[in-house]
Amino acid sequence: MASKTPRITVLGSLNIDLVSYVPHHPLPGETLTSNSFAVSPGGKGANQAVACAKLSRPGAGGSATPGGLETASVGMVGCVGADSYGALLRDNLSAHGVDVSRVAVREQLKTGVAIIVVDEPTGQNRIMLSPEANHTLRPDDVSPGPALLEALGGRPDLLIMQLEVPLDTVLAALASAREEGVPVLLNPAPAVRLPADALKGLAHLIVNETEAAILGGCEESVLDSEEGMEAVAKGFVGQGVQNVIITLGGRGVYYMNAAGAKGLLPALKAKVVDTTAAGDTFVGQYALEAVSGASFDIVGAVNKANRAAARTVERLGAQVSIPWRDELEQSS
Ligand code: RIB
Repeated sequence: MASKTPRITVLGSLNIDLVSYVPHHPLPGETLTSNSFAVSPGGKGANQAVACAKLSRPGAGGSATPGGLETASVGMVGCVGADSYGALLRDNLSAHGVDVSRVAVREQLKTGVAIIVVDEPTGQNRIMLSPEANHTLRPDDVSPGPALLEALGGRPDLLIMQLEVPLDTVLAALASAREEGVPVLLNPAPAVRLPADALKGLAHLIVNETEAAILGGCEESVLDSEEGMEAVAKGFVGQGVQNVIITLGGRGVYYMNAAGAKGLLPALKAKVVDTTAAGDTFVGQYALEAVSGASFDIVGAVNKANRAAARTVERLGAQVSIPWRDELEQSS
């Protein structure tokens, strides 16, 4: 008997990325001429939805192959403005096979914008975010019970969230999902301190060093040692998280689960040109492993997510830089 295709819903931001590629990050008061400029679809929420879609289906030719070959179905919940950027973002999600029926178009509002400056020698970015329509997603939209499931377009096998939509909405969705038994993957970026009970019952927490330090209430330097990583991860498990992932850039990825597995996995080598959406790619691939139906192998999930993210940093842009499933298979 054919098994059901797992369903992933991403509740989060959609931004248009206005990207300048520069010889170095500008200094205070400096006017810098960029080497090139691009307008491309982004937003942590939309990037993670596209990552789930591209990494779950073949499409290396450049566009999604017809339905039926995907290992997961993906839907997006969020808000754009009634402008050309909003239309572009919705169309781009659809072109990658993401269901946009829950992406609302807000009249009179602008679509979220991220101004990104990429330092060409290192590929490192700096981002200024204007949330605009993203901030109209409200807690009432995700109340427990039928309202939550209606907002999500049905019961997902995994709900993914970040923090580029209002914090009170994410906290409400976390509480509602807990009540409804919907597993959640939280990628709390950009990070803020969360209430003590927010992480209770969370299936997966994926944080980078800065986010781990802010959420863990410690200095980032604590994560310089493996003992420090273990202490911070243990704190999250103590707050009720089942699987904790701390991404550490070139130093690798630290993982710990509630059953006691833990360790530091090495980073992969890559020719970095633009780090934008690397974290989102990691989340997408990890999420696909989490819903794959087999018993969850945290080490396997991290290794595969690392491989996907290493491909993303070798290309310019956000959603456009994420590999399709067959591209990843060919390179393994
Ligand atoms: O994670 C990368 C994303 O962060 C960019 O696409 C930008 O929109 C910002 O939200």
